[in-house]
Amino acid sequence: MSGDAIEPFVAGSSAAAASASAAPASNPLRSAADEPIRFFLAGPTYVLQRVREAQLRPPVAHRSPEFRLAYDRIAAALRRIFRTSRPVVTATASATLLMEAAVASTVANRVLHLVNGAFAQRFHTIARSHGLEADQVVVPMGQAVAPDLLRQALRRGRYDAITVVHSETSTGVLNPLADLARVAHEESDALLIVDAVSSLGGVPVETDAWGLDVVLTASQKALALPPGLAFAAVSERAERRMAEVPCRGFYTDLSRYLDKHREGGTIHTPAVTLFWAAEAQLAGVLAEGIEARWSRHAALQRRAAAWAADRGLHIPADAAHRSPTVTAIVAPPGKSARDLVEALAARGFTVSSGYGDWKPTTLRLGHMGEAQEGDLDGLLAAFDEVLDR
Ligand SMILES: Cc1ncc(COP(=O)(O)O)c(C=O)c1O
Repeated sequence: MSGDAIEPFVAGSSAAAASASAAPASNPLRSAADEPIRFFLAGPTYVLQRVREAQLRPPVAHRSPEFRLAYDRIAAALRRIFRTSRPVVTATASATLLMEAAVASTVANRVLHLVNGAFAQRFHTIARSHGLEADQVVVPMGQAVAPDLLRQALRRGRYDAITVVHSETSTGVLNPLADLARVAHEESDALLIVDAVSSLGGVPVETDAWGLDVVLTASQKALALPPGLAFAAVSERAERRMAEVPCRGFYTDLSRYLDKHREGGTIHTPAVTLFWAAEAQLAGVLAEGIEARWSRHAALQRRAAAWAADRGLHIPADAAHRSPTVTAIVAPPGKSARDLVEALAARGFTVSSGYGDWKPTTLRLGHMGEAQEGDLDGLLAAFDEVLDR
């Protein structure tokens, strides 16, 4: 850990000692209770015992110095994880609130959505529900959005903002975010709103270096926290633009989150005990190191893809754009995705079925958060059994 602004909070020193003695070398913060991980949903993801225990600390008043200390430590950790010097606000909500807040707070008239899956489509639904003019660049599920398609769209129209989902959890596709951001800046002054829900913490996201304006994520994915918190980094440009949007809603007004953030807190009553968990887990993320975390997730993706290829199983995500955090796999002929999910469950392993149109035919392995290669090997061995190998 290099110069961390935060210390891990662990509920009870005995828990910390137990973790240290029983943990594998790969993650000294894992205790015997965390061995092995068998929970491979595409979110929520497995939460370490020490993080679950952190929530036992009693709640405090959310305007107290004690809460402010935790809030500030969490914000400092998040700035390092988001790779930004800008504020990263925390909401007691799932990520969809911040998807809505990003659109409602920054788009006065017209927004462009890059759509290659179900979560990208959600941005469009949100914009329409706010009565905004909303255009879409749609590519088939399983493909990434090519930067040239964005370039063409920006030459055809002027937009306040562009939305993109970095890792499309419904398909396991990773969009080329750095390239899309470069094109967006070359061709327009539109803000770039990024859903990094299943990428941040597992995949490189360079908020400042790539010029991303709003980057939002949820607690329950690669950050491996319980569900219930959502985080967003907001650029200076985006903050200025909000002043030009007359109706930003109330709970969806990101400028209010930023104002309260600067006072060291949340706009309304937060889920205080989730903040205790966040303090403990984000310190763990920094202890591993963000680049090490990216490498671990890339290795998990390669392992899942190699396993599928060996068995002739089809991965429908474009091979050049596979997400390090989630792999969708088509069930082999004669097996239904649902039967495979159930057979794995009977062996103690949890995976997701496919999403939307892909639900009957695909499964999704969420290899994100705290899982190590040894954990994934356990899942893949069980998968071999249910495939009758
Ligand atoms: C890419 C992506 N965006 C948005 C969401 C919505 O997140 P939440 O359920 O936290 O609102 C999800 C949830 O799985 C997701 O994977």
